[in-house]
Amino acid sequence: MSRTIRSCRATTHSDLATLKKPQITTYYCWKHKKICKPLFSIKEWFDRYAVDTVYRIKTFAKLKTSSHYVVLPVDSRTVDIFKEVEKRNKKFHDILKKQKINGIFTSPPYVGQIDYHEQHAYAYDLFGFKRRDELEIGPLYKGQGAEARASYVEGISKVLLNCRKFLTDDFNVFIVANDKYNLYPAIAEQAGMKIVNQFKRPVLNRTERDKSPYSEIIFHLKNGK
Ligand SMILES: C[S@@+](CC[C@H](N)C(=O)[O-])C[C@H]1O[C@@H](n2cnc3c(N)ncnc32)[C@H](O)[C@@H]1O
Repeated sequence: MSRTIRSCRATTHSDLATLKKPQITTYYCWKHKKICKPLFSIKEWFDRYAVDTVYRIKTFAKLKTSSHYVVLPVDSRTVDIFKEVEKRNKKFHDILKKQKINGIFTSPPYVGQIDYHEQHAYAYDLFGFKRRDELEIGPLYKGQGAEARASYVEGISKVLLNCRKFLTDDFNVFIVANDKYNLYPAIAEQAGMKIVNQFKRPVLNRTERDKSPYSEIIFHLKNGK
């Protein structure tokens, strides 16, 4: 249902991530280079996604292993991961507590790019989730100025420092970042970690097709200075 609503919002195809004003008439579409129109009924998309969801659940059921997993909708700067996991899955908690976590793969927010709560406002509305806009690291509304960048460095460093408590000594952390302000060396330093490798990844098929394709770096961090 939330996927249907996302696809049916009254917005242009090129403006899915940062809604500006409702689009309720035909318009010239920058993404598809032609005249497009907003949707006037959700039925077609709902049917398509319902069938697709059943297909995905069936496919996943075949691939699924007995691995444990939990989803924690929390502030990553302060969460006590073991405690939260214990509340949800005792068996998993016992394994984690004994072995600790040996890796993180994350795509964090980037400084001043997206207000995630705004982008997914339709889902908060639909499910009645409580919004916690003020906990977002590096939101768009704070911009990309010196103050916003400093607060971003502090925010991401805090996340890494918090997560360290739950990691093994020989951990691997992979962070996907569009680091145009070169903030990650300082972030690694503040978190007591060192960047041991960087992998470049071109970003080609984004939701919005804007003029300038960009590349992201995947930083590989390990323990130490
Ligand atoms: C680039 S997105 C990646 C989302 C997800 N990994 C994915 O691939 O779909 C960054 C995410 O970080 C979340 N975020 C921002 N501040 C956070 C915080 N303090 N604690 C936890 N998550 C946060 C944003 O809400 C957003 O969902």
